[in-house]
Amino acid sequence: MNVLALNGSPRGIGSNTEVLLQAFLSGARDAGAETDTVVLADLDIRHCTGCFSCWTRTPGVCIHDDDMPKVLEQIRRSDVVVIASPLYGNMLSGLMKDGIDRMLPLSHPAMVKDGEQYGHPARYDDGTFRYVVISNAGFPNPGSFDGLKATFGQMDRGPRSALAGMICCAAGPMLSAPAIREQVQWYLDAVTQAGREVVEVGRISDEAMEILDRSLAGDMDGYANTVNAYWQSFGVDMPGGNDASADAAEHGGTPIDPAETVSTVRDLISRLPASFSSEAAEDLRAALQFDIADEEPGRYFVTIEDGRCAAFEGIHPAPSVTIHAPAQVWLDVSSGALDGAAAFMSGQYRVTGNVSLLMRFASLFSGGEPLQG
Ligand SMILES: Cc1cc2nc3c(=O)[nH]c(=O)nc-3n(C[C@H](O)[C@H](O)[C@H](O)COP(=O)(O)O)c2cc1C
Repeated sequence: MNVLALNGSPRGIGSNTEVLLQAFLSGARDAGAETDTVVLADLDIRHCTGCFSCWTRTPGVCIHDDDMPKVLEQIRRSDVVVIASPLYGNMLSGLMKDGIDRMLPLSHPAMVKDGEQYGHPARYDDGTFRYVVISNAGFPNPGSFDGLKATFGQMDRGPRSALAGMICCAAGPMLSAPAIREQVQWYLDAVTQAGREVVEVGRISDEAMEILDRSLAGDMDGYANTVNAYWQSFGVDMPGGNDASADAAEHGGTPIDPAETVSTVRDLISRLPASFSSEAAEDLRAALQFDIADEEPGRYFVTIEDGRCAAFEGIHPAPSVTIHAPAQVWLDVSSGALDGAAAFMSGQYRVTGNVSLLMRFASLFSGGEPLQG
């Protein structure tokens, strides 16, 4: 069985679409299929002009001399075609829509009744295939895909081009943050299972669909706050100028006085405001939460707002980023005894939320007194 995947994200192989596609294709290969991927962003695919030459003057052949005829050949050789696109404006990306429009030469112009609907028969005997739709959305609510699901439900043409299932991943940007890969693995496992099922039984099972219709974001409001904090880290003002991530009056934490010397993570965090560099922060507004485990468990956070930094004990309601670390690991990273990046890569501590803030950590806390006394 041949499975052809069309990646319609303008972000190509670096996209969330590609993460989902690769999980799906690995399942298809496990079940014995041959797989191939076409990244539409790497090809020259022009818009359909609506001239219908492919139905009249040159049957089956488009007026455009670009890369699409080669893709159509690949589609004709495939048993399953995967249409993978990010959700753009509640629909497909323009790139994917162009690709689908350019599949017109595969249809015969005859208008025939097909159940309650009308459609066009396949031009070629080998032009029948099953298809799977894979999409991901920036918003965390699964209802974001209602329009896309309705559209593809209508394009389901029974045996000629049957819809074998749709994978609609809400909060898709969580897929490409390496620090939270473990948190999204349950979803990717279900996508791989779907790939196996499409090859083995021709469709995605109801059990797998039940999982695939869940949002990646368990806490949708928390996800929205993290995304907002991400945009704010570029200096973007939120509507109304409010910033839940840094608003010290709202968070309910207890201020911590700077410790004389550092022997615990609490001491360390109490001294972060003293080493804070307002120059490096520019107009950053953020809340950094520390979730410290093992020897001296504790929850602390620092807020950064208007060029000032303050330290608190407690749990911030909408942190921009959360560092989950055993006490000794964070003490060693802060003193330089442990390389922060290497410790992160080897899983000695975890980060959730806006990881890019962590990358700014050293410069944000590079001024004033040294971190460790
Ligand atoms: C032009 C544009 C339109 C978008 N429209 C929507 C939308 O309607 N709903 C949504 O949830 N996300 C929307 N997004 C966000 C993308 O779906 C999201 O960033 C997705 O993870 C991108 O996937 P990719 O990395 O595979 O390209 C849009 C993004 C762009 C650039």
